[in-house]
Amino acid sequence: MTRLNQIYKCDICTNVVEVIHSGAGELVCCGQSMKLMVAKTKDQGQEKHTPVVEKTQDQLIVKIGSIPHPMESEHYIEWIELLFDNKVKRQYLKPGQEPKAIFSPPQNKATVRAYCNVHGLWHVNI
Ligand SMILES: [Fe+2]
Repeated sequence: MTRLNQIYKCDICTNVVEVIHSGAGELVCCGQSMKLMVAKTKDQGQEKHTPVVEKTQDQLIVKIGSIPHPMESEHYIEWIELLFDNKVKRQYLKPGQEPKAIFSPPQNKATVRAYCNVHGLWHVNI
C-alpha cells in the first residue's frame, strides 16, 4: 500500500518515483521491492541537508543546508520540492548549481523536501 507523495527508490538502478495516486500494490523495480525513502529532519555528520527556508512577501527561498550542500557530479541535491494545498512544485537541480530554489510563498502550511542522490530525503514543515 502506498500513500500520496511517498518517494520510493530502486537500490539497483536508482530509479526514484513519487506516488501520485496511492494503491494497494507494492512498487517493484529491477525484480525487487522499491525502498520507501523516509524523510529525515535532522542532519548527521558534516554534510548539511535540512532545508533552510526564508519567507519574504514575494518569495519562499529554500537553501539546502546551513552550510551549502555539495553540488558535485557524484553527490548533489537533485531536487527541492514544495508541497502545499494538494499541490507539488519541484525545482530540479544539476551539479554545479547552487543548492537553492525559489517558490511563490504558500498561504497555508506547507512542507519542503529535498533529495540528495547519496543521502536521501529531508523535509521541513513550514
Ligand atoms: Fe548529501
